[in-house]
Amino acid sequence: MVHQPSHLFVGSGRLAKHLHHYFTLKQVPVLQWSRRQDTDREFRELANQAQWVWLLISDSEISPFIEAHPEIERHRWVHCSGCLVLPEITSLHPLMSFANELYPLDIYSRMLFVGEPGHPPLATVCPELDNPFRRLAPEDKARYHALCVAANNFSVLLWQTAAREFLKWGISWQELLPYLEVTMNNLATHPTTALTGPLSRGDWPTIERNQAALAGTPLAPVYDSFVKLFLLSQPQPKENTRGVIDANA
Ligand SMILES: NC(=O)c1ccc[n+]([C@@H]2O[C@H](COP(=O)([O-])OP(=O)(O)OC[C@H]3O[C@@H](n4cnc5c(N)ncnc54)[C@H](OP(=O)(O)O)[C@@H]3O)[C@@H](O)[C@H]2O)c1
Repeated sequence: MVHQPSHLFVGSGRLAKHLHHYFTLKQVPVLQWSRRQDTDREFRELANQAQWVWLLISDSEISPFIEAHPEIERHRWVHCSGCLVLPEITSLHPLMSFANELYPLDIYSRMLFVGEPGHPPLATVCPELDNPFRRLAPEDKARYHALCVAANNFSVLLWQTAAREFLKWGISWQELLPYLEVTMNNLATHPTTALTGPLSRGDWPTIERNQAALAGTPLAPVYDSFVKLFLLSQPQPKENTRGVIDANA
């Protein structure tokens, strides 16, 4: 049986490509509109055919797009931004990193969708998807999204920075992979005990040597901040007699 599409996806960026792939794998029909190839008139025609209009576009463009289309009832819009809070607009943030390559069904099926109190849950918007779903108070969303960026994007930046430096000594990305894989696997399986290295050992002379080696580079303040983060995250700050960094500074 062919179902009438309930969903119109607006945009052709990374999230639009991934969600379209996911919905296709789950055999959920979707209409698509992109400003690259379709007219505003075509948008209005497609929007008339769909129940839900997903705005899979840059965060800063979401409100202007909604305001430009007052003919669409506000309860029919869905956005996927992790930090925007818009009155009456359903928010469904997929807690996932969508890069250029598509993923297997198992990855999409396990990703958490985060909504807001008073909004329709994922099960109402798309009953065919049985992803985990949670609600977050609007006032917590900015901090929630900042944590997503810090955990995901900052770790990618750190690895990219290290990889560029290693390459100068002829150490390839391929050679770094076991190190990355074990780090991620340890974190995935034992998140609270995954930390190794001088911080976990309380080896302050080595930390000082690391800091001296990075002095004057963009990584120096990053290293200092992580030492501070580590000290503040300890139940009782570790003894730091050498004054490497003062956690209360
Ligand atoms: N990528 C992720 O990992 C991720 C994860 C969770 C949530 N999100 C959310 O997903 C949404 C889209 O992010 P993305 O990563 O897919 O961004 P993206 O790859 O940069 O794509 C943005 C898309 O928005 C379109 N667009 C921008 N302004 C528009 C406008 N005024 N009218 C129509 N289309 C417009 C762009 O069209 P053109 O191609 O024509 O420029 C492009 O197709 C954002 O709300 C973001 O917060 C992203």
